[in-house]
Amino acid sequence: MAIDYASKIPNNVDLAHDKQLQRALEQWQPKYLEWWRDVGPVESAGWDVYLRTAVSVDPKGWAHFDYVKMPDYRWGIFLAPPTQDRKIAFGRHKGEPVWNEVPGEYRSTLRRIIVTQGDTEPASVEQQRHLGATAPSLYDLRNLYQVNVEEGRHLWAMVYLLHAYFGRDGREEGEELLARRSGDEDKPRILGAFNERTPDWLAFFMFTFLTDRDGKYQLAALAESAFDPLARSTRFMLTEEAHHLFVGESGIGRILQRTVDVMKEHKVDAPDQVRAHGVIDLDTVQRYLNFHFSVTLDLYGSEVSSNAATFYTSSLKGRFEEEKIDDDHDLSSLDYPLLAVEGGKLTEQRLNALTTLNERLRDDYIADCQAGVDRWNRILDKAGLSQRLRLPHKAFNRKIGSFSKVRVSPAGELVSDEAWRAQESRWLPTDEDRAFVRSLMGPVREPGKFASFIAPPSRGIDNKPQDFAYVRFD
Ligand SMILES: [Fe+2]
Ligand SMILES: [Fe+2]
Repeated sequence: MAIDYASKIPNNVDLAHDKQLQRALEQWQPKYLEWWRDVGPVESAGWDVYLRTAVSVDPKGWAHFDYVKMPDYRWGIFLAPPTQDRKIAFGRHKGEPVWNEVPGEYRSTLRRIIVTQGDTEPASVEQQRHLGATAPSLYDLRNLYQVNVEEGRHLWAMVYLLHAYFGRDGREEGEELLARRSGDEDKPRILGAFNERTPDWLAFFMFTFLTDRDGKYQLAALAESAFDPLARSTRFMLTEEAHHLFVGESGIGRILQRTVDVMKEHKVDAPDQVRAHGVIDLDTVQRYLNFHFSVTLDLYGSEVSSNAATFYTSSLKGRFEEEKIDDDHDLSSLDYPLLAVEGGKLTEQRLNALTTLNERLRDDYIADCQAGVDRWNRILDKAGLSQRLRLPHKAFNRKIGSFSKVRVSPAGELVSDEAWRAQESRWLPTDEDRAFVRSLMGPVREPGKFASFIAPPSRGIDNKPQDFAYVRFD
């Protein structure tokens, strides 16, 4: 499983022995670089960034750190090593050996799954392209770019599968993945949350905490797939994803730390007094959390979905940690609790466990988010504050699924349109909130210095000292 770095496209899939595939990917490579230059991180092409690159897919020590100019980053194709005699864990094909080719009957479904996942990767790079201009420190700037190059690599991972297993259709999809644009009216990215803007660093950290975590759950479900190349691709992507989640969680944690330090030092707690000291008040953090959480919940799709059932029964997409779940892995005779809107109330129903798989993955995701929010709240607790951050109710501000037809407060009460309009500015970020947050943004480019609204990290990347020049501009 050694990575071949001598060839044009680094890989551990023995690309050199499939000349046709190698040629096809080498033709896609310059188009990818053009996309990167066109809508990737602004102004950054000439900068030296202290990035990690995969040197092996071994869980220990896969990363190598060095200064790299981002267009020279060695994007490549890395699959986790195969599991010996791996058997399919769920669905109709449970117990059979995993597939190394795509069965004809699942071809179009599987292609759609891969394209939908693949589309999110370049989308987030596009959403984040202007953030480098306002980074709160060199440390944060470097982390942004690390996330960006790895999302670019995740696109490579999906395009490899499309090229290698889906012939001409797959190559066409590879072109389309470079043609759609986040937020574009005519050619938007496939999923809603990936067409939202990420205008400031509070939004960026919320995005990496919440929306990259959706990525974790989707990838984990695909890591169970009977189609082994997809399972192995996503397993390695998950190791990279862990860093993105760290960036989000620690980023918000550092913002909270700075805010509570200022609140204590100056004995203030009213939002405008807190803001006057150049830090972000907790109510604004809560509104950003409400927004990013609710748009990310929509990514899981409708509560009841025949597609989700088909993906599972066809053994294409499993549940989170499928193999650790103690049931029949067939689900056709099991049910699952589901919150629904009935007679103007939210009530719990039980429905078939197959058609509610989207909801189950969403619930697993919510539990993981809650654990992160609990860790943030420890920062508030330690500072002696009584205020806490809360995940809004799952029915709050939804655009997809049964809750899209009703108005629900963050606390989970059904409210009228009128009541919604009256309170919306307390629940979701206002233009004024966003303008205030924007007013605090950097750039801060002196090594070891941080913008007013964020505390330094407790330790550097690759154990570097706090004043390390993570990005060099000349
Ligand atoms: Fe990704
Ligand atoms: Fe990510």
